[in-house]
Amino acid sequence: EDPRIAKIAKAIRVIPDFPKPGILFQDITTLLLDTKAFRDTIDLFVERYRGKDITVVAGIEARGFIFGPPIALAIGAKFVPMRKPKKLPGEVISEEYSLEYGTDKIEMHVGAVEAGERALVIDDLIATGGTLCAAIRLLERVGVDVVECACVIELHGLKGRERLGDKPLFVLVNAAA
Ligand code: PRP
Ligand code: MG
Repeated sequence: EDPRIAKIAKAIRVIPDFPKPGILFQDITTLLLDTKAFRDTIDLFVERYRGKDITVVAGIEARGFIFGPPIALAIGAKFVPMRKPKKLPGEVISEEYSLEYGTDKIEMHVGAVEAGERALVIDDLIATGGTLCAAIRLLERVGVDVVECACVIELHGLKGRERLGDKPLFVLVNAAA
């Protein structure tokens, strides 16, 4: 394993019982305070995706907006925000996904991407995989090829990776749910 990974893992703070009892919250804000670990995080993604003809980095609100843009700039791709409902001002397409209780939606501007583009989807963390699956469906509906999904953290025991099926998922750090 790359020696940078252990330091990235150490820089992520784990807060028990947030936002509710029994949840071990993976807090990436402490990773952002460690300038070396934050840079290494971005570099590890850039090293993987540079030269892969990725034309769009799609970042998922909110924490995918932290990691997506520096990666997009470094690999020469555009950045497209996938937002929570009713935030984008232009015409949107949306996809629903299920939460523990009820459903949520993510939205993308019509015209942000074109059929045939090659996308990388970025988020901070995969848990059940519902969010990433919705992002993939949204991009594929408009003819975009989703090359891979990438997250800083994968939570184990929630079958997120299984839910993605054969869509490749790249993560830096594994954590217990
Ligand atoms: C968290 C996390 C991922 C998502 C993962 O976001 O940042 O986006 O949940 O969960 P899943 O794999 O079960 O779909 P959250 O919706 O809490 O919002 P935030 O990023 O805006 O804080
Ligand atoms: Mg999120």
